[in-house]
Amino acid sequence: MKDQILILDFGSQYTQLIARRVRELGVFSEIRPFHYGLEKILAEPPAGIILSGGPASTLAPGAPRVERALFASGIPLLGVCYGMQLLTRMLGGRVVRSAQREYGMARLRLNAASPLLDGVEDGSTVWMSHGDSVAALAPGFAVTARSDDGAIAAVEDRARRLFAVQFHPEVAHSRDGRHILANFVLGICGAERSWSMENFIEAETTRLREQCRGKRVVLGVSGGVDSTTLAVLAKRALGRGVTSIFVNNGLLRLHEEQEVLASLRRRLGLTVRYVDASRRFLAALRGVADPERKRRIIGRTFIDAFYGGLKDFDFLVQGTLYPDVIESNPVAGPSQTIKTHHNRVREVQKLERQGRVIEPFKFLFKDEVRAVARLLGVPEDILNRHPFPGPGLAVRLLGPVTPAKLDVLRRADAIFIEELRRSGWYDKVWQAFAVLLPVRSVGVMGDERAYGEVVALRAVTASDGMTADWAALPAEVLDAAARRIVRRIREVNRVVYDVTSKPPATIEWE
Ligand code: XMP
Repeated sequence: MKDQILILDFGSQYTQLIARRVRELGVFSEIRPFHYGLEKILAEPPAGIILSGGPASTLAPGAPRVERALFASGIPLLGVCYGMQLLTRMLGGRVVRSAQREYGMARLRLNAASPLLDGVEDGSTVWMSHGDSVAALAPGFAVTARSDDGAIAAVEDRARRLFAVQFHPEVAHSRDGRHILANFVLGICGAERSWSMENFIEAETTRLREQCRGKRVVLGVSGGVDSTTLAVLAKRALGRGVTSIFVNNGLLRLHEEQEVLASLRRRLGLTVRYVDASRRFLAALRGVADPERKRRIIGRTFIDAFYGGLKDFDFLVQGTLYPDVIESNPVAGPSQTIKTHHNRVREVQKLERQGRVIEPFKFLFKDEVRAVARLLGVPEDILNRHPFPGPGLAVRLLGPVTPAKLDVLRRADAIFIEELRRSGWYDKVWQAFAVLLPVRSVGVMGDERAYGEVVALRAVTASDGMTADWAALPAEVLDAAARRIVRRIREVNRVVYDVTSKPPATIEWE
């Protein structure tokens, strides 16, 4: 397809980033595992192919490969890092294990004019991360750039339209990386720029109308960005035939259910069915302290509450995103991990077999959903809400969940968030919340010795939640939050601030 770039994934942590960068250029890109069949590729040839990086070594026995005929298909191809080494080895060049891993910034020294590097400045910084390197080129190839220590950084066989780079153009540290990808995608491949969120909205609206007009459609909403945007899109396409279902699991934040319902119903004009399952969740969680068991119970109870209550509908619309549907990849690497997901439980699979599940966002990345939301007029305060985990306050209340503990945690959390909003810090952090610890500590309150609860505050900065740094909140903000928490909440006599990053910690405490 002339308007699409295919990315073959060798398991790099940056594979999804390549896809996002290509889409930012206005060209649709799809990720497939490296062993995706040549026949399938040739049945609908993309404008170009990118071989991603990966954690393996091409020198290892059984290293992942592509079919050799791919290189003779005439489709322009760009190998990145592992992709460059693979292409070199498979076409007759030599790859060697470097004495030490090259990791970090390097400068590009341009050797020869190249359509891939056209417009790139000599000395431009690039991000390197590799153990092996190319020692001898494959026949037909020429070096177009080296790094400042002389290592081969870019090669090409222009006649066969095969290009490769040792560095990672997709990461932000590679200064001209976007430019290089644009040279490949728009210049060398001549891909059409037809991917935009405006086009996406129009296409999905039409598709939803064709598939569901006059039918009854249900979807689950949580108040988060994805489900809210989906509900707005479905309503735009189908009008009154859409019912959104909001399940209160009893683990929401202070006044959250009223606020979410008001937002969805009054501000966005959605039809929402409210299911209060809080008692059921709390009963199922009674006495359970183990974090994984809590999660499993919550997942199961949600499924019972949501799918058990579903009747009289034709289609289920869900907000599954692209990162959740990218096929699993047998190369050991971060992009291999696929979460067990509510959207793939048995109940959904059954509906799927009946052709009753629609997933309009299944090709979108999170930032693309935000762009869709903005175009659909979802208000900024809804868009900028911090992520909130499905298991809710249960994973922020260490030990067994009780109504009394939930009440303490809710009030502490609300005070902390209020102080962050007041000081302008809410929008500067990725996520912030209070955690109720399962220990007590000694304090004095008035003249009396107190033995009270401990609240930990957590605020982190992050760009996608995969890694995070603790936020260096000003002392005044922490001080104001801590003072108000111990003054207002009788049970709490100590507040601490979490100063660990992820890794090694996670964002949530459970
Ligand atoms: P961690 O704690 O793993 O969290 O660093 C990363 C991001 O994911 C959210 N999170 C969850 N979201 N169900 C969810 O829907 C869960 O079980 C869950 N656990 C963590 C967390 O809030 C953070 O944004």
